Amino acid sequence: MDKMVVKGGNQLNGVTTASGAKNSTLPLIFASLLADGEHVFHNVPNLADVTSASALLQSLGCEVTYKDHTLRIFMKPLKTFEASYDIVRKMRASILVLGPLMARFHQAKVSLPGGCAIGTRPIDLHLEGMKAMGAQMDVENGYVLGSVKKLQGAKILFESPTVGGTENIMMAATLAEGETIIENAAKEPEIVDLANYLNKMGAKVEGAGSSIIKIKGVERLRAAEHDVIPDRIEAGTLLIAGAITGGEVTVQKCEPADLDALTAKMKESGFKISQDKSSVTVHKCKEWKGVDITTSPHPGFPTDLQAQVMALMTQAQGTSVFTETVFENRFMHVQELVRLNADITPKTRVAVVRGGPGKLQGAPVMATDLRASACLVLAGLVAQDETTVNRIYHLDRGYEDMEGKLTKLGAKVRRIE
Ligand code: EPZ
Repeated sequence: MDKMVVKGGNQLNGVTTASGAKNSTLPLIFASLLADGEHVFHNVPNLADVTSASALLQSLGCEVTYKDHTLRIFMKPLKTFEASYDIVRKMRASILVLGPLMARFHQAKVSLPGGCAIGTRPIDLHLEGMKAMGAQMDVENGYVLGSVKKLQGAKILFESPTVGGTENIMMAATLAEGETIIENAAKEPEIVDLANYLNKMGAKVEGAGSSIIKIKGVERLRAAEHDVIPDRIEAGTLLIAGAITGGEVTVQKCEPADLDALTAKMKESGFKISQDKSSVTVHKCKEWKGVDITTSPHPGFPTDLQAQVMALMTQAQGTSVFTETVFENRFMHVQELVRLNADITPKTRVAVVRGGPGKLQGAPVMATDLRASACLVLAGLVAQDETTVNRIYHLDRGYEDMEGKLTKLGAKVRRIE
């Protein structure tokens, strides 16, 4: 079980780059099921989740190759329409095969993803959307069984924004009969990136990035080529790595606008942030003040940066109140931070962080999910002595070469088998 040992005390300075977005790459990979031919994606991050998604497509019968951040998917006649439990349980995003399989092959057998550390993660909104499009959706022995003669366009109102649900329905609607309207759609940049690729394939998707998305069904789609957008969550994590150590770090190859919610909060806390068209810099800062953080769907403060900013606020002057509104259990990192001597009082969806600059003491801690693992690495950068982050495989799911990027900036981190 890989561990990462972080020695605290070094200031991080310099230039790093963001990799391609994990949460854009995954739906793009599954969108390739919608059309024959060779789909080519550039700027694809080298991540465990990308390997898992590729393995899922290969299990369906597709050919997938990955080299120098380019992923090539060659669609072959599928030998099965089943996404098995052992793949889905490792990566919940596998549920995104549902929409494409139903749209193109009119059937699907997808394991229920099951819960994860941050919450029950249901897929009821995905299934209701598919039913609204005329699909028969049954759940048997832990699997979703979908079948339909041909999907029909429908008007679908999500009771709350769902990124995966919006992506599944958007993909399903591209080959449905007639027009589909998604209301209260998720607005994340990854939704826009997926819509852009679908339109390159010949789909007719309008309004992605707003809360109303219209999709006119077409007869068929064709494979295309696409550059994946930069990973805003990784970029934000790297910025915070600089900020928490009081250093100056520039993240290049990112999309500054996608970091607005984070940089606004960092400025409110006292950091000086500058940016140009494809990079963001956090400048040296000796002390910063606590700020309140409430997560919400895009363009609100991203839940995927909540744990990382909490690490930053353990070093602030004063108190920060964190309110997590997206997931019901996304404070698994709090108890681990407390093990590092952070002063945090967790409640149900609220955690009160009393800042104490320089008070963190290194200790062995446990990563519970992807972003919690990043939070603990960040805390280790400023904790006295060494922090050992266990179950670092969580980090590998969503961060490409985190230790290499941090080491280049001056951190003392090492991985031990
Ligand atoms: C996506 O997950 C991301 N994953 C998550 O990133 C991210 O935290 C989340 O969106 C919110 O931004 C990928 O894109 C692969 P949701 P998703 O459907 O689609 C509830 C990371 O760290 N809900 O927007 O699963 C759900 O329980 C990961 O990279 C239902 O109730 O998120 C949650 O409380 C973690 N029923 C809320 O909606 C449904 O049918 C938002 O979930 C679907 C969702």
